[in-house]
Amino acid sequence: MLRGRAGRKLAPGRYRAAVPRRAGPGPKLAAMKVEVRDSGVADAAADVVAVGLFEDGQLPAGPAEAPGAADAKGTYKRVTPLHAEAGRVVVVGLGKREDMTAERARVAAALAARAAAAVEAKSIAWDVPDEGDRAELGAALVTGTILAGYRFLRFRETDPEEDPPSKVESLILLGPGDLAAEAEVARIAAEAQNRARELQDLPANVATPTFLAGRAGEIADEHASVTVETLGRAEMEEKGMGGLVAVSQGAAEEPQLIVMRYSGGGSGPTLGLVGKAVTFDTGGISLKPSGSMHEMKMDMSGGAVVLEAVAAIAELGLGVDLIAAVPATENMPSGTATRPGDIITQYNGKTVEVNNTDAEGRLILADALAYSVELGAEELVDLATLTGAVVIALGSTYAALISNDDDLAAAVDAAGEETGELAWRLPLHPEYKDLTKGTVADLTNASSKRKAGTIYAASFLEEFVDGRPWVHLDIAGTAWDVGREYVGKGATGFGVRLLVEMARRRAGA
Ligand code: BES
Ligand code: MN
Ligand code: ZN
Repeated sequence: MLRGRAGRKLAPGRYRAAVPRRAGPGPKLAAMKVEVRDSGVADAAADVVAVGLFEDGQLPAGPAEAPGAADAKGTYKRVTPLHAEAGRVVVVGLGKREDMTAERARVAAALAARAAAAVEAKSIAWDVPDEGDRAELGAALVTGTILAGYRFLRFRETDPEEDPPSKVESLILLGPGDLAAEAEVARIAAEAQNRARELQDLPANVATPTFLAGRAGEIADEHASVTVETLGRAEMEEKGMGGLVAVSQGAAEEPQLIVMRYSGGGSGPTLGLVGKAVTFDTGGISLKPSGSMHEMKMDMSGGAVVLEAVAAIAELGLGVDLIAAVPATENMPSGTATRPGDIITQYNGKTVEVNNTDAEGRLILADALAYSVELGAEELVDLATLTGAVVIALGSTYAALISNDDDLAAAVDAAGEETGELAWRLPLHPEYKDLTKGTVADLTNASSKRKAGTIYAASFLEEFVDGRPWVHLDIAGTAWDVGREYVGKGATGFGVRLLVEMARRRAGA
């Protein structure tokens, strides 16, 4: 049974559709056991030993004597399975020594995890490359292994035959004991990212706004440092959150504004995290084409990422203070839905002509940003699958970063560089702002000009941050189907590790 705050049972929604058979809270994603062992490759005692090989490098004793060892090449991403005396070995090419990065370690770990899955290995031992910052590489191997092991198989009777799920339960880093602390942080963050991916993958008839509120309640139950409060439709109406009311009014499903606070005893400014959680985006009356509409179950990615990042930050006990706001709703067409041309008043009093009901994300984020400022957020970062335009501009490699503050922008950018969750800054300019001006209201949520769609949306959001330092990350291209080795197809959880890393840096951890 889904439980909310203080273990209270959540009443099922009035119109809640039948939930699929295997949908319950279900088995928790299996946790990976991670340990550091200061032993050699020869006595690693694991089902598979993974060894990275640089182009100019040599295999360690043991694997070097295995039949076929001479075929192993250090070319980046080249995988060579070997049978050494002591057991199975997977050699993964790391490329040139001077090109080694944490990103390469994440990719190598994913390749080794796939090779381990093919032989149904339950344990992998990774010979942590001795190059540069070894603790960072060890942590990256943990990240890559855990992320590569994620599959969404809850609703399947049988496992897929090609690309079978990993059976790896334990990862051993072969290296000195001082790798352990960073490895543990990496484990916690990567598992949080996998939980966010599961929320993204869950279909809209399961991952409803109420379900997400229930997940926030669980996180608060697990951590004394986290509290949660949620506002439903009646409270949104009463408070004048016109954006949330307008977007949710076509849906039978109850909307939720989920507000979590984390008190880590930080000395810096309170950071507001805001994540878009449209649990299904049909476009509303401005209906989307049906072709890939089903993918719009992922339009809650920003919210999922914020929820699980808060969980990881609390688990790590980082010394920061957070206010996290997740506006959660469906965007449905119906007899009660918002009509194109309707004029609404947002929480901060600004009026908006809703000329396109498919530009819904900015309307709910506007209320959530303004509310976060009122609750005491002094700096803000929002994550949202906001525009198709960002997919055209940056594909799946970079998220768009748009900000009114160079320092906060640099902090987010640097955290993402470190974690491999890349962001590219796009500009703000008064001429873009002009595009967002309404004709009969203060603002319009979409213009027929179709110019600079991603910047337009950010320029709109800026009207609701009350001049506070703010970063907007448009993750429409990076939240799904990135195809990088360690996240593969489908949900990526983009942003969880970035937010954790940012919080670590703010906490001086
Ligand atoms: N959720 C979509 C954006 C999106 C597109 C997310 C592709 C993931 C993949 C958003 O609500 C939307 O519909 N945006 C419109 C805005 C337009 C109507 C101004 C878009 O980008 O087309
Ligand atoms: Mn939309
Ligand atoms: Zn949307």
